[in-house]
Amino acid sequence: MHDFKFKNNELYCEAVKVSDVVEKVGTPLYLYSHNTLVDHFTKIQKAFASINPLICFAMKSNDNMAVLKTLADQGAGFDIVSVGELKKLKKIKADTKKVVFASVGKTEEEIVEAIKAQILFFNVESLPELDEIDRIAGQMNKTARVALRINPDVEAPTHAKITTGTLKNKFGIDLTTARKIIKSKTKYKNIDFSGLHVHIGSQITKSEPFVNALKRVIEFLNVLRAEDGIELEYLDIGGGLGIIYKDEKPQTAQDFADAVLPYLKETGLKIVMEPGRFIAGNAGIFVTRVLYLKDNGVKKFLIVDGGMNDLIRPSLYDAYHEIVPVKKKTGKKEVMDVVGPICESGDYFAKDRELPVLKKGDLLAVMSAGAYGYVMASNYNVRGRAPEVIVKGSQFGVAKKRETFEDLIKGESVPAFLK
Ligand code: LLP
Repeated sequence: MHDFKFKNNELYCEAVKVSDVVEKVGTPLYLYSHNTLVDHFTKIQKAFASINPLICFAMKSNDNMAVLKTLADQGAGFDIVSVGELKKLKKIKADTKKVVFASVGKTEEEIVEAIKAQILFFNVESLPELDEIDRIAGQMNKTARVALRINPDVEAPTHAKITTGTLKNKFGIDLTTARKIIKSKTKYKNIDFSGLHVHIGSQITKSEPFVNALKRVIEFLNVLRAEDGIELEYLDIGGGLGIIYKDEKPQTAQDFADAVLPYLKETGLKIVMEPGRFIAGNAGIFVTRVLYLKDNGVKKFLIVDGGMNDLIRPSLYDAYHEIVPVKKKTGKKEVMDVVGPICESGDYFAKDRELPVLKKGDLLAVMSAGAYGYVMASNYNVRGRAPEVIVKGSQFGVAKKRETFEDLIKGESVPAFLK
């Protein structure tokens, strides 16, 4: 479900006409629906109401402060991966006690800041990282709470670049090492072993891989309990719930809950979840304008003003994003590539896509761009990043301005010895 719908052949976001936003803000742009964000968050909350988990929005998927504030107001916690993300949360006055921090490469500064912010726990990804957190917490005279991120070594059917739960990936700690660490927990004077963390990948549309991972976790917890007499407090089950981009039939939040709740209850632990895409993915679109049409006799190209620097998912993962004209068109259709202005053949939003006949100036919406869209944008080809706009009912506001040329060259200069 999302709030981008046609009324009288015009695309709306909630009660706002997309073309009205374009008139004010220009193209390209990202547009988010407040109501969709809230609705998706609430769907997870309701489906899991019987265990009242802490839902930590994976802010790597969308870190716009208006989006973060929307979710914080719903009671969300946050899953972070850098001190920059932590600082953004402080700016919106989110409760940093509801923050979990994963990343295979946490720096000293990041560990210090997270301890100061009293985050719920670090998701620890290796033994040397644990030693480092122990050392830094000791220096600060503090105890750091950690959940060991275990690698359950289960395959999750998704794109190779976003699967994380096997030992071929850099993430997490294998079960043998994890058990050794937890058994020797008294060695870590400044660490409180709060729990376990497991995240097997992203855009996973079925519940089996999650269930398989949970079964491994339960076996592991049982060994810790029965053989080592160790009790933990939290289980963080990560994110990864898939959404509809094309014709996927992903599990709903309720299907997912029905499948995993029995296992979660069996652990007896407090549950943390880290959904990103499920909440933000279909809550955002990317709007771009047709610049030129080109037909080289072999192929037709629709050249638009947005590029892979704005939305890299098609180029990087061969990801499919639905593309619809903002003003509905009927009649003849033709097959074309929708491409950007960047100097790379990989700069496209769609290949061999059937679309209505379009002309210069027409607006297109690239759907399902709310997660891993703006956050992965770059300034490649000295292009300012597009603005982010949020809609709530009949109101809309710019949540991040379009980058200007001055923004782009800020901090850049030619050293004196080159002058
Ligand atoms: N927790 C951890 C530890 C993660 O690494 C991730 C995503 C999440 C939670 C959130 O996963 P989600 O619920 O959003 O699937 N850029 C890629 C996706 C990368 C995912 C990275 N980790 C894409 O555009 O598909």
